[in-house]
Amino acid sequence: MRLGWMMLPLALVACVERDEPTGREDFATFCAACHGTSGRGDGPAAAGLDRKPADLTGLSARNGGAFPGTKVMAKIWGYTGGHDGASPMPAFGPLLQGDLVPYDGGDGIATPTPVRLVGIAEYLRSLQE
Ligand code: HEC
Repeated sequence: MRLGWMMLPLALVACVERDEPTGREDFATFCAACHGTSGRGDGPAAAGLDRKPADLTGLSARNGGAFPGTKVMAKIWGYTGGHDGASPMPAFGPLLQGDLVPYDGGDGIATPTPVRLVGIAEYLRSLQE
């Protein structure tokens, strides 16, 4: 019995296949303070912002039903292009490290993209209502 409990953490560690945090974990770390754990824009830091964080569960609904993957990626990665100067969203340096993987946000063009940003985009896709 005692040995069984000692084995449990080892078994859990063995289940993790990659080193990077999942998109869900990165969202909780880097995004949830403003956007809320559920993505609805109701995080604890939202009240102090002049601009309300977007409800990230309605990205597809606001885009005719299709998840706007390219726009999302431009927002969280392309701060020079997508940034309008008035957004309080910070840059996410740690998310840019790691492998580049092809990401097609829906426009048919696979762009080499930091794997953790892809994880977050896929997590956001899973939140769509
Ligand atoms: C400091 C608060 C803050 C943090 C942290 C933050 N955001 Fe935002 N986000 C905002 C605000 C405010 C807006 C609405 C204004 C704008 O579009 O910039 C927004 C807008 C967005 C949009 C555009 C939504 C739309 O409808 O066009 C996306 C996508 C987004 N955030 C994703 C993220 C992701 C993913 C993270 C974490 C990697 C993150 N945000 C972290 C405050 C934040």
